[in-house]
Parts: sequence; C-alpha cells; structure tokens
Amino acid sequence: MGTEIDRAELVVSPGEFFGIADTERIRSSIGLKLSDRSYLPKADEPRADWVASVAVPAFKTLAHMGVLAPRFCTIGTGAGLDVLAAVEILHARTVGFTDLHDDVLAHARENIQSNLLDRDVQLVGGSGDLLAPLVGKVSEVDVIYENLPNIPMAGNGDLAEGQTSSTFIAQRNEEIPGFAEKNLVTLHYLALQQAHPLLRVGGRVLSSIGARVPLSEILALSGAAGYNGSILTYTWKVQSEPHDVVGGYAQWEREGLGPFHFYPVDVLESAFSDVTPAAAGAQAVQLERDLSAYEISAVDALARVQKGERVGHTVAVLDSVRIPDSAL
Ligand SMILES: C[S@@+](CC[C@H](N)C(=O)[O-])C[C@H]1O[C@@H](n2cnc3c(N)ncnc32)[C@H](O)[C@@H]1O
Repeated sequence: MGTEIDRAELVVSPGEFFGIADTERIRSSIGLKLSDRSYLPKADEPRADWVASVAVPAFKTLAHMGVLAPRFCTIGTGAGLDVLAAVEILHARTVGFTDLHDDVLAHARENIQSNLLDRDVQLVGGSGDLLAPLVGKVSEVDVIYENLPNIPMAGNGDLAEGQTSSTFIAQRNEEIPGFAEKNLVTLHYLALQQAHPLLRVGGRVLSSIGARVPLSEILALSGAAGYNGSILTYTWKVQSEPHDVVGGYAQWEREGLGPFHFYPVDVLESAFSDVTPAAAGAQAVQLERDLSAYEISAVDALARVQKGERVGHTVAVLDSVRIPDSAL
C-alpha cells in the first residue's frame, strides 16, 4: 500500500532548482512532504532532476517568448514541484494536476498549497489516469505539461509499488500508432490525444521526453495527434535509476523495439556545455547528428551500467500547439 509512510520533509531551494533567488509567487524555501509513491525530487542534484533541468528551462523559454499560462495543467505531478514552477514562471492561476495514486495526489496538493504565496491560485486536482480526472473540470487551458514514463512493465511488476509508476507503464488498450509503440512513447501520444479537447486554440502541450529515439520520431507524435509540433528545448540528463531504466530499454530492444540510444556522460557534458536549452532546441536536429557517432544501444549501455559506468540521454521538450480544427 505505502500510503501511510511519510518520508522526512525535503527542502528545495528555488534559487538552486528554478534559478530564481527572489520568488514572487511561491515561498523562498520549498518544503515538500512525500508518500513513498511520490516521485522523489533529486533535491541534492538539480542537474539530475526533471523539474530543475527540464521543466524550468522549458517554462522560462515560453515566458521569454511572451507566453504565460494563466490556465495550466500537469499530468503526473509527483511531488507538485512542476506546479510550483508553473505558478512562479508561467503565472499559472488555475492549475489542474493529476497523478495515478490518491496518496501522491494528496501530498502534491498539500505541497502546492503550503508553498504558495499567492492565495488566489485555484487548484483542481484529481487522481487517476492521464487527464481523465480533469475532464469537465478544466477547459480553454493554455499549457499542459507532462513528463510521463515510457517503459511497459514486464512480468509481474506492480505499478502501485513504491516508485514503479514513475518509470513503468501498464499495458494499454487504446489504439496506438505503430511508430509510437515501437519507440516506447505511448503515454506521450495518449496524453496529446486527451489534451486536445481541453486546450484553447493556440494552447499547447509540453511533452518532456527522454530522447532515446530519433527526434524525427518524437516530432511525429505531434502530427499524429493533430498538432503543430516543434522542439522547444533540448538538453541532457544523467540516466537516473540506471539499472531499472536502461535494463527496461535493453529488454524491449532485445524484443525488437527501438533501437534506443544513450551516450557517455562526458560526451553530453561537452556537447551541451556552451548552449542553452532553448538555443539547443532551435538546433536540436544538428546537435543530434553531431552526437550520432557516440550513440550506445540500450543493450550496450546496460553492460556499461553493470560495470558501474554512468550513461546519459538527451531530453527534448516537444511543443505541440493546438491548431484550429478547420486547419486539420
Ligand atoms: C517521472 S515522474 C515525473 C513527476 C513530476 N512531473 C516531475 O517532473 O518531477 C512521472 C509521474 O507520472 C505519474 N504517472 C505515471 N503514469 C501515469 C498515468 N497514466 N496517469 C497519471 N500520472 C501518471 C507517476 O506516478 C509519476 O508521478
């Protein structure tokens, strides 16, 4: 079950995590309480954390483009940090958030509420699958963010156990385009599909995707779900939970899916050292081409992980803009 066990409260600094020392809408020191199923923010290593290293640069890139999100939703919020980042950076005022488990959602709600300075932010939370808990409760949304897991669970794993639902996904019954299934990006496709009717025209989905498959395949998701797609930001991460994740990809690669690719960490460090995530987004395809000589398959990456080596992967934030239905 795991609902009762609270981890010790984590404290996250917006200065380190969001690169914002003087926050205006959220507390200057963020206290978070988590259930043992809440996705664990990497409080000691912002470079390895999805919100700090992926969501925040993407939100800042939108804000620099003049795009704010008074109506914001996130799918699979985990600890609720992505919501706090959206309130601060995108000035979110009506916020929808979901996650699979009741206890994760309850902690996220508490974490969001207790760290807001702006008491007028309206919270619409619901536990359940993808956006289903928000249907009929939010509309005309400006930005929907998601950082959903990719790897289909094999054998007798249990999504209700600990951190499992942050990495693995259940077998789905919906119709999924073959390329999305082969590339293990099924939940990102379904999230795009479900988001469409909740967005205003011109509203967008930011899909945060570990780019272990070609960017062309990631971009194809937007078109397949009826959006105009582009890569907003491009960055990299050290592979977290490497045994589970690289092991999962290697297993599916052996079954004929993918192929998936990883890179040595020093190669990624040097390729991205002089470029911001937004500038890298604008030249993502060229960067991917430059990196291609260093690609390591999932099976080879697993062998390195088993020897104690670190591997990394690129991360793309896919920006899918809802176009008028008449333009489809
Ligand atoms: C990698 S974590 C990201 C958490 C948070 N958004 C962040 O960036 O720190 C993925 C989250 O998605 C949730 N999740 C997985 N499958 C889901 C689904 N079908 N519907 C809603 N949430 C889901 C997990 O429970 C987990 O909290």
